[in-house]
Amino acid sequence: MMNHSLVTIANLSRDKIMYLITMAQEFEKNPNRKILDGRIIATLFFEPSTRTRLSFETAANRLGARVIGFTDPKVTSSSKGETLKDTILMVGNYADAIVMRHYLEGAALYASEVSPVPVINAGDGANQHPSQTMLDLYSIYQTQGTLDNLNIYMVGDLKYGRTVHSLLMAMRHFNPTFHFIAPPELAMPEEYKIYCREYGIQYVEHEEFNEDVISGADILYMTRVQRERFTDLMAYERVKDVYILKASMLGKARENMKILHPLPRVNEIAYDVDADPHAYYFEQARNGLYARQAIICDVLGLTLEDVLEDGKKHGRQA
Ligand code: CP
Repeated sequence: MMNHSLVTIANLSRDKIMYLITMAQEFEKNPNRKILDGRIIATLFFEPSTRTRLSFETAANRLGARVIGFTDPKVTSSSKGETLKDTILMVGNYADAIVMRHYLEGAALYASEVSPVPVINAGDGANQHPSQTMLDLYSIYQTQGTLDNLNIYMVGDLKYGRTVHSLLMAMRHFNPTFHFIAPPELAMPEEYKIYCREYGIQYVEHEEFNEDVISGADILYMTRVQRERFTDLMAYERVKDVYILKASMLGKARENMKILHPLPRVNEIAYDVDADPHAYYFEQARNGLYARQAIICDVLGLTLEDVLEDGKKHGRQA
């Protein structure tokens, strides 16, 4: 990649992750900084989204950029047969950066290779979701005070869940212990277990999910069973409700434990959990704004110093 695209979390070093977290902390203090005045950000969503698209667009708007894009590829010329390459080349004529979600694994890498401007991967099939991972890392850091030596329990669809795949890779810098909790049909793919072994990451696999299991977690990362990834809907029906977190299961949870979920949820977190102090998924989604502001600035070549300088120029505004 010749430009500063963010395609995979695997490319980010420990230092780079901590740098982006520091930048996101600045944006949390004040998200309204007009440092992208005159820039255009394109959001190309070939798959549905609520949080990722709206938080990227909010991030760009709050930094003074303007946003173009689409949420439904059927209303674009891709429905007439235009290739992804041509679409990216066209949008690269108009925008300074492209945020793209695509249903095909590898689409973001391909787009970054042909694009004249940086591409941010907003999710490519079951592969990667690096901006989600940055907001997950930010949420973990803000709640635990560290990313090091944590017990991270991943629950649900670990086969197709791109958020757990990205988070697993990012955590290689921080000596985690993972618990992979999934039915056999949705187990963590072998390639990610090999990745853990290559990087000396400890992991345990099991199917039990109860109060005693949860008592060991610092982070309980719940995921949705993704109907859209199944070709056999009977298989989906068999596993869709296999793990449901209820408030009654949190009695033995550690005080510091936080429940994360990339959202949207379907059935996997009961509504009675929302009021529990361990629930953090709505704050996590809000953190997406700050993390994505940091990512947009970074791919456009703006530094933490630029952000701090702007803060000094304009003062802190609520
Ligand atoms: N977490 C996440 O990617 O949510 P959306 O699909 O709503 O963007």
